[in-house]
Amino acid sequence: MKILFIGDIIGSPGRSAVSLHLPGLKKKEKIDFVLANGENAAGGLGLTPKVAEQLFSYGIDALTSGNHIWDKKDILETLAKDNRILRPANYPPGVIGFGSTVISTQGKKLGVINLSGRVFMRELDCPFRAALREIEDLKERVEVVVVDMHAEATSEKIAMGWYLDGKVSAVIGTHTHVQTADERILPEGTAYITDVGMVGSLDSVIGVKKDVILERFLTQLPVHLDIAKKNVVLHAVLVEIDEDTAKAVSIKRIKIKADESS
Ligand SMILES: [Fe+2]
Ligand SMILES: [Fe+2]
Repeated sequence: MKILFIGDIIGSPGRSAVSLHLPGLKKKEKIDFVLANGENAAGGLGLTPKVAEQLFSYGIDALTSGNHIWDKKDILETLAKDNRILRPANYPPGVIGFGSTVISTQGKKLGVINLSGRVFMRELDCPFRAALREIEDLKERVEVVVVDMHAEATSEKIAMGWYLDGKVSAVIGTHTHVQTADERILPEGTAYITDVGMVGSLDSVIGVKKDVILERFLTQLPVHLDIAKKNVVLHAVLVEIDEDTAKAVSIKRIKIKADESS
C-alpha cells in the first residue's frame, strides 16, 4: 500500500500547487491514499467547507489538522459530520469533531489518527494516552494506521515515534512547516519523520510574507498575516506499507518546486 502524506497546505498558493502536481504524482507513484494537513488551507489560517471540498476534488482522501483548525468558524458544522476531516484526538472530551477515521478505496482500508503535541502548544490531554485509545478503537477495523503528530517540539515528536513503533505503520510530524531530513523506519517497522514540511512559499517565514513577520519580531505589535506567493514548494512523504504485516517498507521525502510560474 502506498500512502502520500502532504505537509500543511498554506492558503491559495498551496492549494494551486496541490492541484497542479497531485494528479501526476498519484499516477507516477501508483498511490493508494493521499492524506494532507489542511489546518492552514483557507487564507493561511483554518479551513472552510468549500476549501475542504476543493482539496478532496484534487485527489486528497482525508485531511488532518491541528491548532489552527478552529480559526474559521464555519468549519465547525462540517467537523461534526464529515469524518474525512480530523482534529487532534487529544482535545478534551465533548469537543466537536473526529480525532481518528477509517478511509477506504478499491478494497483497501486505512486508519488515520490526528494528535497534537503539548510542548510550546496548548495544554491538551495527553497525546500518548490518546494515541493508544484511538489505536485500540481502530485496530478492530483496520490493519494499517497512520498518525499525524502535529507538534512544535522535535523531542515530543521523536518520543511519539518511539512510543508508537510497532503499534502503527507510520508517525508523520506536522506543524513546523519545515521538512526535516530524519525520515526512517524504526526497529519495529513504523515509518517516521519529525516534520513533513508544507506546501507554501520558501520566500517566507513558514508560509507568511517575511516582511510582515520581521515587523512583528522587531516591534512585538500584532500584524496582518499575509500569505507569501513566490517560490512555492510542495513537501510530502511517500510511505510504502506491507499490507500483510502492516509494517513500513520505505519512506521517501518529496520536495517539488511547485510555482506555477516555474
Ligand atoms: Fe500549520
Ligand atoms: Fe499547527
